Amino acid sequence: MDKMNAFSKSTHKFQPEQLVFIANQIKERYGLDYTGDKLKDLERKIQSLLQNTAQSDVYFHYLVSGNFNCIPNFINELTIPETYFLRNRNLFEALQHVILPELIKRKKYTHQINIWSAGCSSGEEPYSVAILLTELLGANHHWQIKIIATDVNPEILKKAKKAVYTEWSFRGTPSWLKEKYFSEVLPGKFQLKAEVRQMVTFKMHNLVDGPYPPVSGVQRFDLIFCRNVLIYMPKATVIEILTKFYAILDDDGYLITGPSEFPSLKLKKYKPKTVRGTILYQKAKPEPSNPISETRLKKNIDSPRKAGKKVRLLSAKDVIPQRNESAPVESPKSSEIQNKHDNLLNDELTQIRRLADKGLLGEARKLCEEYVKKYPFAKRGYFYLGNIYLEMGDLAKAEENFKRALYFDPNYAMAHFNLGTIYLMQGKSEQAQKTFKNVLGILQKMEPSASVPDSDGLVVSQLASMAQTIIAGQ
Ligand SMILES: C[S@@+](CC[C@H](N)C(=O)[O-])C[C@H]1O[C@@H](n2cnc3c(N)ncnc32)[C@H](O)[C@@H]1O
Repeated sequence: MDKMNAFSKSTHKFQPEQLVFIANQIKERYGLDYTGDKLKDLERKIQSLLQNTAQSDVYFHYLVSGNFNCIPNFINELTIPETYFLRNRNLFEALQHVILPELIKRKKYTHQINIWSAGCSSGEEPYSVAILLTELLGANHHWQIKIIATDVNPEILKKAKKAVYTEWSFRGTPSWLKEKYFSEVLPGKFQLKAEVRQMVTFKMHNLVDGPYPPVSGVQRFDLIFCRNVLIYMPKATVIEILTKFYAILDDDGYLITGPSEFPSLKLKKYKPKTVRGTILYQKAKPEPSNPISETRLKKNIDSPRKAGKKVRLLSAKDVIPQRNESAPVESPKSSEIQNKHDNLLNDELTQIRRLADKGLLGEARKLCEEYVKKYPFAKRGYFYLGNIYLEMGDLAKAEENFKRALYFDPNYAMAHFNLGTIYLMQGKSEQAQKTFKNVLGILQKMEPSASVPDSDGLVVSQLASMAQTIIAGQ
């Protein structure tokens, strides 16, 4: 009797609201979208899970209570592990003839290359890259090549580590690859040679949860592959993941993902580049984290002493704004309500930001002043206004607005950071020290790989290291 027949006794029926609950939980935890018209698909998959276990009552209970971790094959059932060697020939041609040779040239002094294959499935993708690098560098090279390959599905990773494949994994692959790099270990089963296998490190990793970077030994990647993974995810999740990739890509590094997986509203952070008929996304130079010009910030970070030495201690009064005519008079709302409120208003702020980025500071200021009148509790309005005044050179008004933003959210790291920048400009070194220490205090309570709100993609560890550099240079 086969496995299916042995267990096909489950008669569990899911209520529509139970299915919706399960779909929402899956979307939140793994980024896999089975909501809406995909609920039927989900039901089919979880019914198949129940049919294939002797513990269908227990699994049913786990499913409707959201305890997915207790079901060993749960994620395996939901994900699609489809992959093969050199999948997308154009891309691998581009890698072999342009991208990897360029990278090798660029890294000729360090002899170090770091690559991440995110959503690697059974390993064909990272191993394909390892094979191409072996082709280009020769088998006895002395380079330090780190290829990290991750997937949310632990079952598929077991297969990847074994590196034993059938003909199916070589469909559309030129014959030299199998002949040169694999040996037939059982009839129709081919194992990758050990020297290539050991170039790849596998790890279980959920792109929704992180961490970013996925392993502690590698901070920056030259290439990040994330292909045929994001297509199943909602746009907001995709943007979040691409932003996190950006933070750990090396300068000029490439993100390799399918064009249909890249949000249609192109992220300015990446420059699309066509190489041999395939589109790659190269890390674009970071924009200033807010309307403060980069050069101005850098000037002050480089030589904070230049601005003078007048010293005054920072007191609570400096952080909590004193009321004046234009200041909001009601008490602040909770930060949760604040955040919801701010998110709703993103569009208006984006428009203001665009004007400021174009240098149309007068117009940006006017709109932003109207904005804070209309939404007197929105901390980001004050933060933006502070940035605009800073760019206009009106430090007093900038300071006032950052303090207002902090009034509504004392843990607003970027508002502290920019306030610290003003103190540097004014030569108030002790205040600056204290303010940047406040920044560090806030960041210490956050995940090092989390992105810092309103920093345009900086992660906590990056902003912390900037604050430390400033403090050390004082
Ligand atoms: C279709 S395969 C892609 C394999 C390979 N990248 C390729 O293009 O040939 C998609 C893989 O993404 C993985 N995946 C799905 N959601 C994920 C998540 N939240 N975090 C990490 N991996 C995920 C799945 O387990 C699956 O192995």
